[in-house]
Amino acid sequence: MSSKFKTFLLSDAVIKSITSSGAGVARTNEGTVIFVKNCIPGDIVDLEVFKKKKNKLHGKILRFKFLSKNRVTPKCEHFGICGGCKWQNMNYNAQLHHKDIEIKQIFKKIGNIQIKKYLPIVECKEHYGFRNKMEFSFSSKKWLTEKEISSKKKIKNRDAIGFHISGMWDKIVDINYCHLQKDYVNEIRNEIKKYCIDNNYVFFNHSKKEGFLRTLTFRTTSLGEMMLIFHFYYFDKQKIEMLLNFVRTRFKNISSLLYVINNKENDSIYDLSIFKYHGEYYIKEEIGKLSFKISPKSFFQTNLYQTSVLYNKSLEILKIKKTDIVYDLYCGLGTISQYVAQYCKIVVGIEIIDEAIQLAIESSKINGLKNIYFEKEDINNISKLDLLRKYGKPNAIILDPPRQGLTKKIIKVLLEIKSEKILYISCNPSTQARDLEILCSEYEVTLSQAIDMFPQTSHVENIVLLTNK
Ligand SMILES: C[S@@+](CC[C@H](N)C(=O)[O-])C[C@H]1O[C@@H](n2cnc3c(N)ncnc32)[C@H](O)[C@@H]1O
Repeated sequence: MSSKFKTFLLSDAVIKSITSSGAGVARTNEGTVIFVKNCIPGDIVDLEVFKKKKNKLHGKILRFKFLSKNRVTPKCEHFGICGGCKWQNMNYNAQLHHKDIEIKQIFKKIGNIQIKKYLPIVECKEHYGFRNKMEFSFSSKKWLTEKEISSKKKIKNRDAIGFHISGMWDKIVDINYCHLQKDYVNEIRNEIKKYCIDNNYVFFNHSKKEGFLRTLTFRTTSLGEMMLIFHFYYFDKQKIEMLLNFVRTRFKNISSLLYVINNKENDSIYDLSIFKYHGEYYIKEEIGKLSFKISPKSFFQTNLYQTSVLYNKSLEILKIKKTDIVYDLYCGLGTISQYVAQYCKIVVGIEIIDEAIQLAIESSKINGLKNIYFEKEDINNISKLDLLRKYGKPNAIILDPPRQGLTKKIIKVLLEIKSEKILYISCNPSTQARDLEILCSEYEVTLSQAIDMFPQTSHVENIVLLTNK
């Protein structure tokens, strides 16, 4: 805290908007932004403004004068501590409204992009239980709740398996029940935790970087298949076999039981070997009439309900013709590629993860699609000429990069290719806006369509259509 800053009081502050981390935003009479925890747009509060950081003020609620009509009681017992669903105290329509506003503001602020048409955000019908992938961290030092601290009871065991506290990479809240996934995932996770505690398995200490149990990933599908990946910090044959044997025999519905040894600084497993203990190396999923195999390193949309909504909207917006050549860059398992291939001449899918491309090729054969070509390649190494020579100039390009967005290299190629249309799908409107600003020299942003794939959070998926000028 700056020593020069003088605390002051502010009465009847109106909370006008909300940040992605769930803080309400008010303003002083002079217009300076004040972040206030535990409130939502529409609340009116008396505040103590206690801190100034990077020209932004931080306020503490002294009393509520008026409660927003959009307030709802959070369903989750971990709300307010867990870094997950920060918007659970706001009704779903208000969540959609604020996502729509956020996208427009980002496009104006970051890229100053003129967008001809904004279509209203598409809602997700399932507000809970929609996630098919969850990653839980083990921790030997669970975060203590205020109730636990004030009870003054001695806590003998602080082993936990759960999610990071917002902004604290080494603090884990012990999750008893998470509403974003299926009930049975909660049951299995809790039983695994009990077994590990009862059998003296050492949970990970994130600050000291020691311990055996590091992360547990669940992936489920609508066909009832389930993949579990245990991430161990080091190899211990006996401990691994004992635990995985318990899991295999106790839970009969696990189709793929895998493990990985990760003693790196970071949690990524893309550069590590993943071992199969039981079942298959993949699980099966369907989107409409198409079937896919999902392997541990391959990306699959985390909300299946909204995946076909996203893909149908993409098709509708692109208005693909039977004669079109389409490039699907960052294609993952080739899910969009195969959706689109049913309506055009050729699709070329490009993806960096080898096992994703192998499964994309396999599934396109199973799905009877003969007009698709998949290439395992780093998009950044693709020169314009190589692509065009091999497959012809595209009429449409689909881009669906990770959160970091596009690199300057690929943007340069896109500017040179001058495709009739580009459909840019993004789960991070900030990097999307940054990239659009550069692409705007050659393309016009015709339309923006947000789709809610992540209820209860500030995250949103956004599609934009670019047309060559
Ligand atoms: C957001 S996912 C999109 C996947 C797919 N479009 C879908 O809907 O399932 C982004 C994909 O880009 C891939 N990727 C990331 N960096 C890449 C790169 N430099 N070159 C090629 N693919 C990359 C990731 O492996 C991931 O499969």
